[in-house]
Amino acid sequence: MSVPFIDLKRDIAAHRDEYLSIVARVFDSGTFTSGPEVKAFEEAFASYLGVKYAIAVSNGTHALYAAYLALGIGPGDEVIVPANTFIATAEAVMMTGAVPVFIDINEDTHLLDLTKLDRVVTPKTKAIAVVHLYGQMVDMDAIKAWADPKGIAVVEDTAQAHGARLDGRRLAGTIGHVGCYSFYPTKNLGALGEGGAVVTNDDAIASAVRSIRTHGAESVMYKHDRFGTNLRMEAIQGGILALRLLQLDTSTLRRHQIADRYRAGLAGLPISLPPAASDRHVFHLYVIATDRRDALKEHLAKLGIGSAIHYPIAIPDQAVFTSRNLAGTCPVATRDASRILSLPLFPDMTDAEVDEVIAGVKAFFS
Ligand SMILES: Cc1ncc(COP(=O)(O)O)c(C=O)c1O
Repeated sequence: MSVPFIDLKRDIAAHRDEYLSIVARVFDSGTFTSGPEVKAFEEAFASYLGVKYAIAVSNGTHALYAAYLALGIGPGDEVIVPANTFIATAEAVMMTGAVPVFIDINEDTHLLDLTKLDRVVTPKTKAIAVVHLYGQMVDMDAIKAWADPKGIAVVEDTAQAHGARLDGRRLAGTIGHVGCYSFYPTKNLGALGEGGAVVTNDDAIASAVRSIRTHGAESVMYKHDRFGTNLRMEAIQGGILALRLLQLDTSTLRRHQIADRYRAGLAGLPISLPPAASDRHVFHLYVIATDRRDALKEHLAKLGIGSAIHYPIAIPDQAVFTSRNLAGTCPVATRDASRILSLPLFPDMTDAEVDEVIAGVKAFFS
């Protein structure tokens, strides 16, 4: 049996009529961008997170950009960014004119290494982008204890961590000054197109983001009080996301079941595995690590089993940054990039498919 890395068409098949009725509702309303569908989603998402404001935007990259701008980050400033993340975390810093400064990662968690914070901070550090990569939450208490006394803003990149929480209650994105979500279709909460959101309890950040989202003109049309651009969300995506939000906890539960099945099935093999399922990890990705990564990936591909690498090149080693002589500055991330492998994990995956992947990995090591 072949197993796809991800198959979004299964969810569409199961909910086709509901999705089409939202599309029809939007068509009939004549309001195609922002409007009541997006507002209803913003309210539902804020209430789900237990946060004061959720501001829908066009995608996760723009959520980060708007958040950085709202914090007043710009030329002359530095933002600490983990060396293992999707490029957008760093790219959005560059969009403001500020400079990303990379922090190495911990090879067990693949998350930023808290013990290295003091090595990368400078008087120019204005913020730290904390990425809850793969759905796994960073120790936010430790981050805040370090950043708050220094007046460094904490931006949570929650693009992969919808519904992850600390202590069973503090949701990803609501603990730092601002949280930035992506609703790219493959995310744990995905749109049927592009989408993102900035979440915060801070009145000033919320008001700035709303203004930035509409060309710096929040309340009075064509009166532009600050620099902004077009970061609006389309109405159809607001409607789809409001509906899918109702399914988020159920699909997280399924992700946990799959992660636990992998953990039991892969135990004892010479690979490093993610932690057991818990509130802190919503398994956007199931990432294992082995020195024989490329051969394992090839072996799985021959069996028809999809896999992926998140991410194959550490961010400081990317050509866009090597011109700044950053290559190799985060050796753990550089090495990790050659060892990590994401196995298939999506809520519509069957147990038989999970078992097929387990059998494939076991066969490789036998
Ligand atoms: C960690 C991380 N940050 C930011 C983004 C950017 O989100 P988007 O693709 O919606 O712009 C993504 C999405 O891939 C991501 O995984």
